[in-house]
Amino acid sequence: MNKERIREEASYTARGQPNIAFVKYWGKRDERLILPYNSSVSMTLDPSINTTTSVMFSEKFKEDTLYINRDRQDISGGEAKERFALINTLRELAHTDAKALIVSENNFPTASGLASSASGIATLAYAAAEALGLELSEKELSIIARQGSGSACRSILGGIVVWHRGEKPDGSDSFAEQVVNEGYWEELRDVVAIVSTDKKRVSSRAGMKQTVATSLLYRIRPQIAEEYAGVAIDAVKNKDFGRLAETIMRDSSNMHAVMLDTYPPIVYLNDVSVRVMYAIYELNKAEGRNVAAYTFDAGANAHIITLEKDAERVEEALDGIEGISRILKLHQGGGPVLLGSEKSLISNEILDSLYQARS
Ligand code: DP6
Repeated sequence: MNKERIREEASYTARGQPNIAFVKYWGKRDERLILPYNSSVSMTLDPSINTTTSVMFSEKFKEDTLYINRDRQDISGGEAKERFALINTLRELAHTDAKALIVSENNFPTASGLASSASGIATLAYAAAEALGLELSEKELSIIARQGSGSACRSILGGIVVWHRGEKPDGSDSFAEQVVNEGYWEELRDVVAIVSTDKKRVSSRAGMKQTVATSLLYRIRPQIAEEYAGVAIDAVKNKDFGRLAETIMRDSSNMHAVMLDTYPPIVYLNDVSVRVMYAIYELNKAEGRNVAAYTFDAGANAHIITLEKDAERVEEALDGIEGISRILKLHQGGGPVLLGSEKSLISNEILDSLYQARS
């Protein structure tokens, strides 16, 4: 790889992580700006699962180009085009027409069902803002990341994060903010049980749109979730695990209930997910208090939130469940960070192909 040439073109590389929501976002009141019906609360995960993204802007590029895990992606239409509109917002702020080359890699399999869009978009927004020399605050960056993928705005910050729903139609008050940093309640863990590697049948974007349009139960979901978000924030600040755990489990089930109430119904959980729910319920019952909480996103994989001292017991409880292919124990992590130019994913081969396409 010819580093000299890359530096000349100013490539910026960042690494960022997914987050797991304690109180979920499911439903947009504005689809273009990605404004949610309720606030959500999440924990940013440690870098053992991460996305690395390199970005370079150049007047010499004919068009924007995106590679994910070495495959060139079509960003000319559909959800991909919507997600990459944030590049236009950044270009406007930087007063440039230069096209972007984006090369992104996840160190976890994209098909594993672990949130890749949140870490991908947050890392992209961060690296692209750096590449354009924009000095944005975390609040401003979260607003930009939000326009690529709602949950991505929470991955701009580390530790426990709230995404305020906001009320303004322009979205200026719908941003992510750190509740406490990753050191405040360091003992929190996310034990992930990978139960399915199937690709989602319905994307989050399409699924939540259907829910908002057809579920009558959804009429009360925003109110309930807003209340849970307040309780979860309070429980985190007070390190009240029992209260946090109950809120996490109730909110996950509430979201999956409105998914099921969607017409036609959306079901992301499978029989293994249900067995995990019962195993955690049994564990908490045996302990006489909540030592763990299950939560599921738009997929069958289980995230078990627990404390370090109880993580082993959680893993034991999951041990006998057939259908779990892998267990990961994740800590909390920070927001995206800039890596040195030696970590750039932009190879000369890719650059040459783009320059050739232009001439
Ligand atoms: C179930 O953020 O992926 O993980 O804004 O359309 O890109 P878009 O959706 P996305 O949805 C995430 C949904 C969730 C819950 C959550 O993380 O809050």
